[in-house]
Amino acid sequence: MSHEPENRPIHGDIHQGQRHDSAHKHVAGTARYIDDLPERADILHLCLGQSDRAHARIISMDLSAVQAAPGVVAVATAKDIPGKNDVSPFAGDDPLFAEDIVSFHGQSLFAVAAETRDQARRAARLAKIEYEERPAILTIDQAMDAKSYIETPQKMAQGDAEAALTSAPLRAQGRLRLGGQDHFYLEGQIAMAEMREDGDVHVWSSTQNPTEVQHLVAHVLDQPFNSVSVELRRMGGGFGGKETHPSLFAAAVALMARITGRAVKCRVDRDDDMIMTGKRHDFRIDYDVSFDDKGQLCGLKLSLAARCGYSVDLSPAINDRAMFHADNCYFLENVEIISFRCRTNTVSNTAFRGFGGPQGMIAIERIMDVVAHKTGRDPLDVRKINLYGKDRRNITPYGMTVADNIAPDIMAALEKTSNYQARRVEIEKFNAAHKYLKKGLALTPVKFGISFTLLHLNQAGALIHIYADGSVHLNHGGTEMGQGLFTKVAQVVANEFQIDIDRIKILPTNTDKVPNTSPTAASSGSDLNGMAALRAAETLKTRLIDFAAEKYDCAPENISFRNNQVFLENRCISFNQLVKEAYMGRISLSATGYYRTPKIHYDRKIHKGRPFYYFAYGAAVAEVIIDTLTGENKILRVDILHDAGKSLNPALDKGQIEGGFIQGAGWLTTEELVFDDKGSLRTHAPSTYKIPTSADRPAHFTIDLWDGENREMTIKRSKAVGEPPFMLANAVHSALTQAVASAAPSDNLPDLNAPATPEEILTRCTTG
Ligand code: MTE
Ligand code: MOS
Repeated sequence: MSHEPENRPIHGDIHQGQRHDSAHKHVAGTARYIDDLPERADILHLCLGQSDRAHARIISMDLSAVQAAPGVVAVATAKDIPGKNDVSPFAGDDPLFAEDIVSFHGQSLFAVAAETRDQARRAARLAKIEYEERPAILTIDQAMDAKSYIETPQKMAQGDAEAALTSAPLRAQGRLRLGGQDHFYLEGQIAMAEMREDGDVHVWSSTQNPTEVQHLVAHVLDQPFNSVSVELRRMGGGFGGKETHPSLFAAAVALMARITGRAVKCRVDRDDDMIMTGKRHDFRIDYDVSFDDKGQLCGLKLSLAARCGYSVDLSPAINDRAMFHADNCYFLENVEIISFRCRTNTVSNTAFRGFGGPQGMIAIERIMDVVAHKTGRDPLDVRKINLYGKDRRNITPYGMTVADNIAPDIMAALEKTSNYQARRVEIEKFNAAHKYLKKGLALTPVKFGISFTLLHLNQAGALIHIYADGSVHLNHGGTEMGQGLFTKVAQVVANEFQIDIDRIKILPTNTDKVPNTSPTAASSGSDLNGMAALRAAETLKTRLIDFAAEKYDCAPENISFRNNQVFLENRCISFNQLVKEAYMGRISLSATGYYRTPKIHYDRKIHKGRPFYYFAYGAAVAEVIIDTLTGENKILRVDILHDAGKSLNPALDKGQIEGGFIQGAGWLTTEELVFDDKGSLRTHAPSTYKIPTSADRPAHFTIDLWDGENREMTIKRSKAVGEPPFMLANAVHSALTQAVASAAPSDNLPDLNAPATPEEILTRCTTG
């Protein structure tokens, strides 16, 4: 046998296109979601009773018919809560059950538990509730007029916007409205609870944030954290919609389990899910911009008004992130951004892929298009001359230096590979030759800041066991929602031990394995948990090396792990053999790992600092066609070049880029939330709310990864990829705007709002 380390790679190594660990199970239907878990024989099914008023005082609530309905075992209201009636992430303003005042249409008022789900749902409808209606603030415009905010308006500024606006040669003002977006995860909100010994409660929750569910269940039950455990193997999609809102359902089942002593499950119907849970914030954006005749920006005043809904939820951080991304890749020398966080009598809006970033970013992309239109230049040229550069032209409005700027290189490369210039000419010819069909083309970049802007969330833990046969158990604080986090973290551990990935079992996320975790959000899952798992693996590997060095009398530095084997100075044994010997030698084969992100800091009072460890970049070119007689539209071709650093898994990352882009395109084109004038959501099912389907995928769709590595010391020099590609879809909206502009030529660029539905496109084609 050769004693030289073989270079044959292990299966599932890092930087390889390893398939998602559950891909085959997703397809075969054998991946277990919470509703697939075995139910205890005594299980009850829970349904929440909802308010059908947007804003009212509850005069009386008669639940006798609910209680008397067939199959009903228990009914609970606010009076039955032993602890705090609150399921909010921090502000203390999201009651589990509304008391006295209802603040939105669809708010939870009570819970009913019955033998079957159908019985619980029917019973919930029998409540007799008397209300005294109050005036409701429903829209951003109404909230702005009434100065109804969840916190004081925030300001971020650099240079002198006012002076630059008045002194520059050219100036434009305008307004852009952006709709909200439902998460439309395939698996809806769901929770199941059962009582264990001594009043302990175990909860299965489809949540991105098991620790928060643990804390809120404990608060509601008035129990210590150590008496509540929360577990999940995977979600069928979260997209931010399971960052805070699962607590409502988890707390309800936990409370009911304690009241009845039985297991309780709540699987929310799609319509109720859409009505009761928060969405992406809709925005009203007003800009006043000045520029020179080359299209270079001089001054900008930007107002971002967002509908937050009835409570605070995560809106402060989401709106901060909108401000952080209002520069995108562009240097704003003189800028003032004011952010209004509107309080309305609608469901409390929440995290959604990009977390406010998309709304801020599309504002500056619209401004680029307006400036190009006014100066008669190609929008790409205007974008280019405004890009971040060197010598003080690299400071963001929040005072952070952009040190890793690759946007210009990515844009230049994509301009070439997508054949942008030649296609511009082609499209102009096409538009001149066609009266009713018009095409549009746009190239837009993305720069997205990576880290939680709330400092303490940037930490993670992991737990690894190696069993005596050399097989491995891996736990970390992250959650799997389809993005492939578990696969990536397993690849990191496989690489460190140099063992095949199928030797590593990926376990459900569980608060009693890894405590005090952060939500899997802000795209930071693999950055944080990958590092924590690496640290745990390094600890174990060091123990194994020290043991082998002593046992086989060789220098630790001459011991190496390769392809499931361990190479010692003059012999080679299998990894499994070494593990077995280490166990016999009484070496601990279990370790934790911990990581916190370095270098970041932020002063929210003045909105200055370094909130992000680094930026992820990308660019997209989209070509669209519209029918000016009907407003119908189609995305014809998309080319993407995206930066995932030195990708941990190019296959999964391309999947994230494709999914993120399509979800972004859905937000900007087809997904329309309609609330009526009573504050009731009218689009609460796929019949009226249109997410993209496979037919909406452009016929030509290329996705390439930028060949580079993170300049910061992230996990194996990779970059986060979960959210940034969402904003590549800005190219679609920009291309649609170009197409509409060519149909309705005027001095002003058409004010195409989002979603650019056929109705919206038709309206802008006729009125501009
Ligand atoms: N991909 C899938 N398939 N399903 C999801 O729910 N959520 C997105 C993104 N990609 C999501 C997804 C969001 S909002 C975030 S913040 C990241 O994944 C979270 O996972 P990560 O930090 O591991 O990238
Ligand atoms: Mo993602 S919106 O940070 O869950």
